[in-house]
Amino acid sequence: MTTWITICDTCKREGWETGDMALTDGERLAALVEAAADGVPGVRTRRVSCLMGCTHGCNVAVQGPGKLCYTLGRFAPEAEAAEGIVAWAALHAASETGQVAYRTWPAAVKGHFVTRHPPLPPEA
Ligand code: FES
Repeated sequence: MTTWITICDTCKREGWETGDMALTDGERLAALVEAAADGVPGVRTRRVSCLMGCTHGCNVAVQGPGKLCYTLGRFAPEAEAAEGIVAWAALHAASETGQVAYRTWPAAVKGHFVTRHPPLPPEA
């Protein structure tokens, strides 16, 4: 089953306006996540504008049908973060429930989890 990484492409971290402002921090992270996820089985990416976690960007959501879903934030738009997000998403894809054993988490995602959403109950 596919795990989707949804990346907010409008996140701007504190101090963003002191840079060249050519791209948002979210756009930079999205490009890095997309590159890291390229060819990874079971993991796909998409971009959205705003996940309503603007004060603690950069933000991503990791979701799969019938599984625990998560939002993660406070990422810098850097390759290490992107690779950690994708590695964790691959573990989510391989998990039956969406739960991933903490001992297997990439260091880059530790301390970045913001919310966890249980899967919706089946339709009656
Ligand atoms: S701009 Fe990224 S969560 Fe709102």
